[in-house]
Amino acid sequence: MAANRKVDKVSGVETTGHTWDGIEELNSPLPRWWLWTFYATIVFAMGYVIAYPALPGLSGATQGLLGWSSRGDIKSEMQLLNQSRAAMRTKISATPIQQVVADADMRQFAVSSGAALYKVNCVQCHGSGAQGSKGFPNLNDDSWLFGGTMEQIQQTIAHGVRSTDDAETRVPPDMPKFGADQMLTAEQIDQVTETVLQLSNQEHDQAKAAAGQQVFVEQCASCHGEAGQGNQEMGAPQLNDAIWLRGNTREDIRAQINSPKLGMMPAWNGRLGEAATKELAVYIHSLGGGQ
Ligand code: HEC
Ligand code: HEC
Repeated sequence: MAANRKVDKVSGVETTGHTWDGIEELNSPLPRWWLWTFYATIVFAMGYVIAYPALPGLSGATQGLLGWSSRGDIKSEMQLLNQSRAAMRTKISATPIQQVVADADMRQFAVSSGAALYKVNCVQCHGSGAQGSKGFPNLNDDSWLFGGTMEQIQQTIAHGVRSTDDAETRVPPDMPKFGADQMLTAEQIDQVTETVLQLSNQEHDQAKAAAGQQVFVEQCASCHGEAGQGNQEMGAPQLNDAIWLRGNTREDIRAQINSPKLGMMPAWNGRLGEAATKELAVYIHSLGGGQ
């Protein structure tokens, strides 16, 4: 091959000796700028390998003279974040909830932290959008079993409802099993069911509703109120509205009167601490139904 080398007449550059179909390859030198960039990358790579973790070994990569590691970076960032969070939490813990809300920084922290806590601890019962489902109240609306002020919401979250491990838990009076315990006849239950449908402005049987009125006043009003307006001090639901915990159909209502289901919610103070229940209350209150 070398024997084929010659100088190209037009450009004056030596050829490599390769020819294809009469086209000859010139042996032009590499451009300067390219060569120098190439050498610079080699120098940089050597410096990098010395300074930073680079070469893989059996028990991990070489350490590098600077001692840097991505894990260490995250660790120190997390430490900073946790420190600022802990400081905020201590502050929230020591501040009455109304003042937490009045302070823009604390409020913002409480809402976002409360939202995160909600996702972990509450969605399984109250739903991902806090919309609730049968037996589990919607937390977005204006209807509250136990009251919708900031303090009332915090109280419910902190101590739960019929919670076995919290002495301050909310204890709604157990609604009697009117049918199962034969406190009312089947006919009376039929009638008072129509009375409840009437109170809530739903389609009902006039005559039966009127006949059930007496039973309602005697058996139900002590908890649900004469007009079915409910009682938040007890946690007895309002019956004359369109919001239902256990369903609004004739069958749902009859089933509840016959053999009521009783709601239960865990207490969160012991598990999550005071600051967290405050943050949750601020978050729930901010969903729209807060009073
Ligand atoms: C001792 C208090 C008490 C009495 C008396 C009582 N209830 Fe209730 N009732 C409750 C409570 C508390 C609930 C909520 C159930 C729970 O704990 O989740 C409830 C729930 C209901 C519900 C379901 C409401 C909803 O939003 O889905 C209906 C309907 C109802 N009661 C009807 C009646 C009727 C009709 C009577 C009378 C025959 C009656 N209750 C008597 C306490 C009472
Ligand atoms: C195991 C299921 C369950 C979990 C988990 C749960 N709840 Fe509840 N919660 C309930 C039930 C059931 C009720 C209604 C109790 C009743 O019927 O009286 C309730 C009631 C409430 C109320 C009162 C609503 C009103 O109308 O007054 C609030 C506020 C509330 N929950 C917030 C939360 C928050 C915040 C969390 C998460 C930290 C949570 N709940 C986790 C089941 C649950």
